[in-house]
Amino acid sequence: MTPGARIQAAIDLLDRIDAGEPAEKALTGWGRRSRFAGSGDRAAVRDHVFQALRCYRSYACLGGAQTGRGRMIGALRATGLDPAEVFTGAGHAPALLTDTELSAGTAPVGADACDLNDWVLEEFRTSLGEGAEAAALALRTRAPVMLRVDLRRGTRDDAIGLLAEDDISASTHPIATTALCVTKGARRLARSRAFLNGMVELQDGSGQAAMQAINLDGGRSILDFCAGGGGKALALAARSDARIYAHDVDPSRMQDIPTRAARAGVQIEQIATSALPRKAPFDIVLCDAPCSGSGTWRRAPEAKWRLTRERLTALTQLQSQILAEAAALVAPGGQLVYSTCSLLSTENEDRIDAFLNAKSEWKLVHAQRFDVTDGGDGFFMAQMTRA
Ligand SMILES: C[S@@+](CC[C@H](N)C(=O)[O-])C[C@H]1O[C@@H](n2cnc3c(N)ncnc32)[C@H](O)[C@@H]1O
Repeated sequence: MTPGARIQAAIDLLDRIDAGEPAEKALTGWGRRSRFAGSGDRAAVRDHVFQALRCYRSYACLGGAQTGRGRMIGALRATGLDPAEVFTGAGHAPALLTDTELSAGTAPVGADACDLNDWVLEEFRTSLGEGAEAAALALRTRAPVMLRVDLRRGTRDDAIGLLAEDDISASTHPIATTALCVTKGARRLARSRAFLNGMVELQDGSGQAAMQAINLDGGRSILDFCAGGGGKALALAARSDARIYAHDVDPSRMQDIPTRAARAGVQIEQIATSALPRKAPFDIVLCDAPCSGSGTWRRAPEAKWRLTRERLTALTQLQSQILAEAAALVAPGGQLVYSTCSLLSTENEDRIDAFLNAKSEWKLVHAQRFDVTDGGDGFFMAQMTRA
């Protein structure tokens, strides 16, 4: 495909997404219909679509229209390119620019420039103060691919060396002592020796740093209450000899845990909801709660436009409910850890304050926010102990 044909494909996909089709579904459908597209074309079209979703408002301003075509005109202008060089009408390239398109387009300001919904920008300002704009701008860029090195199997330099044997380049990242940032060959990771033998696991740097910030002293049993794919449970298993348990209200979300645990050489026992009372109490319970995902909107940019006030309120209610349920599973003198991949205080500090106000036997030990400007995803963790 020519560069122009790739842009036209992105225009068509953005229009479908704007009409309500989920981005992944739209891309899969396009892939099936476009047998002529090679792997490089597919990656390029995907990149165009995801970058336009990250910068949905600012590109529409720059392009002068809230359409796929307007946004891709804006995308080219944002990178200093003249859209007329791509919108040539030749072959499968987009049609020539109209006079209106040539004169339309303004520099984005305010929430347009931050690429957030107006009310979300207000939430960012309440939560992050002067850091709100910087966080919003960081979410307009592509997320790095980060790895967690299992330090029981070797150093970060050992891992970098093993990855290099499979033509994958990585460098250490200061966000966590286990963190690597992949700079080349990320697509080869799943078949690389370092991955298959458990020396590295895919995990964002903030998630790694947050799991390292948990004080595990004296914890002989640890429950990951919202385990999902088990990323946090695996990170804890790598730094503790405690018995590790995984639970999720939706057990199908845990289906990858046995394979991942086997690769890491650790044991993670899954517990059904009905069996929790029998297995409790646990010394440490982690709630990596469902959230808006605002700290991960670089990876899932569609989510930032789909979040509504109603959904956010429902999430905060669920988060408080999960905290209360999890607290009841902690042994006397034990620890409760709450985390989200959100930057919003309504999902983080406010939930902890509400919990501590309602339960006088609990005390805050440590709370920390990881900003998206630190290099990893936005993340929050708080550790509490029962008196
Ligand atoms: C943020 S994800 C967890 C990600 C996971 N910890 C990881 O590192 O890959 C939140 C998880 O909470 C689960 N969940 C939602 N409501 C729950 C509840 N009431 N009790 C337990 N888990 C719940 C969801 O199914 C989802 O898998």
